Amino acid sequence: MKRQRGGRAIFPGSFDPITNGHLDIIERALCVFDEVIVAVLINAAKQPLFTAEERVALIKRSCRGRRRVRVDTFSGLLVEYAVAQSAGVIVRGLRAISDFEYEFQMALMNRRLNPEIETVFMMPAEKYSYVSSRIVKEVSRLGGELSGLVPALVQQKMHRKFRPTSTRGRDPGP
Ligand code: PNS
Repeated sequence: MKRQRGGRAIFPGSFDPITNGHLDIIERALCVFDEVIVAVLINAAKQPLFTAEERVALIKRSCRGRRRVRVDTFSGLLVEYAVAQSAGVIVRGLRAISDFEYEFQMALMNRRLNPEIETVFMMPAEKYSYVSSRIVKEVSRLGGELSGLVPALVQQKMHRKFRPTSTRGRDPGP
């Protein structure tokens, strides 16, 4: 199999919202690939906390200054999106063994759909091994502190979503 070092990788996900664990994976991917496309899945079947536009805006703000990162949305098959973007690699973060079964299933299905697209797993720093979008939303909804686990902007935006009438923290815009 011919594969060049570098090139373009897709980092797909729901990113509802982006966490510092995701940002850690983006940094690691930038060490290996020339360009990383952070691709937000538009999934009509799910009820996300943030709209796709909001999620893209939060990722863009969180990745500001990283010139080799592009943020986009996609729908339909991920491998088709990867081909359309001329990306040969899908990057996924693996936090723990519990992630493995789902990730393994997805990677093998994607390989069956398109054997030319390779999935690469990257481990985030241990301090993020328990961080997920689901758990940060739950903690935020219940009023817990999340600094260091999500970008400050994400924390403010989640707070706004769960407590729209609260005056705590000025809304920093999109
Ligand atoms: O952050 P998530 O929700 O774990 O990301 C899952 C994602 C977006 C990577 C996955 O659901 C996906 O790739 N969906 C696109 C549809 C697709 O290609 N399905 C077939 C392969 S499983």
